[in-house]
Amino acid sequence: MTPPRVLTTAAQFRTALTETVLALPAREGGRPPVVGLVPTMGALHEGHAALLDAAHATADVVIASLFVNPLQFDDPEDHRLYPRDMDGDLALLAAHGAQLVFAPSTEEMYPGHPDGPLVTVTAGGLGRRYEGAHRPGHFDGVATVVTKLFSIMAPPAPAALEAWFGRKDAEQVAVIARMVEDLSLPVRVRTVPVVRDEHGLAMSSRNRRLSDDDHTSALSLSRTLTELRGRAAAGEPLDVDGLSAALHARDDVDLDYLVVADPRTLRPADLTDEGTLTGPALGLIAARVGGVRLIDNMDLEPLTRNEEHLP
Ligand code: PAF
Repeated sequence: MTPPRVLTTAAQFRTALTETVLALPAREGGRPPVVGLVPTMGALHEGHAALLDAAHATADVVIASLFVNPLQFDDPEDHRLYPRDMDGDLALLAAHGAQLVFAPSTEEMYPGHPDGPLVTVTAGGLGRRYEGAHRPGHFDGVATVVTKLFSIMAPPAPAALEAWFGRKDAEQVAVIARMVEDLSLPVRVRTVPVVRDEHGLAMSSRNRRLSDDDHTSALSLSRTLTELRGRAAAGEPLDVDGLSAALHARDDVDLDYLVVADPRTLRPADLTDEGTLTGPALGLIAARVGGVRLIDNMDLEPLTRNEEHLP
């Protein structure tokens, strides 16, 4: 298990990546090498391990970033409390074969912070839906830092860059995919499904801040989505309002939203007059449990016409 090289400045990282890519053996058929990037905010867990493993399957070199991006926190206290664990992170990165890690300081990423940066990327309407509406500026902060990471961590031509993101952050994936398209960034966005613990809770760095009781309460998020998925598949009315009311009635869960959205546009999904699903959709939920903000989502598939006629 070789520990990754950790670089803290953009200049050092670029030099190390160029050396690494130029040292790669030539590929069959002269195919250009692929660099797999896993951008993270640290406090790594099994979800990040899945991203690194997926990156390995298609890349010649796997690289990662560790940076708790202040621009994407609307609440400074949330930024302060975000878990940090450099030693644990480097152990996981080594175990999953990351070769180079970019771990900049805030000053390196945003010279002049907290007054800068002046020029940022905005996520537009897509960034103001659910998480974006509850955390103003969050997706602008994500879009800005990811653009910077893509720029700093881009390999020398002709190597190609593939960037990996978890589908737990479904809105983030939609924003980044759209940003790459709109800004013509030379990056291929790839995703892995939500990774859950043995009880069904979606893996998140924030889970470290949950007590045992909070963890039990937090399971109500995935259970609600599982209930929605069951109703969708059975062709039953989804009754999102009823499920939301049940969560609002609990005093251990502070629900922000439960919505059923179109998976591509993230606009509210079309339902029939009876409230059943008309096409594939995404159930999205966010709530605060024990003071920790959690999000989760699940794919919802409607009952198909053929299935309707089965005995
Ligand atoms: O998903 C995350 O950990 C962050 O939002 C990201 C993409 C690393 C940007 O800071």
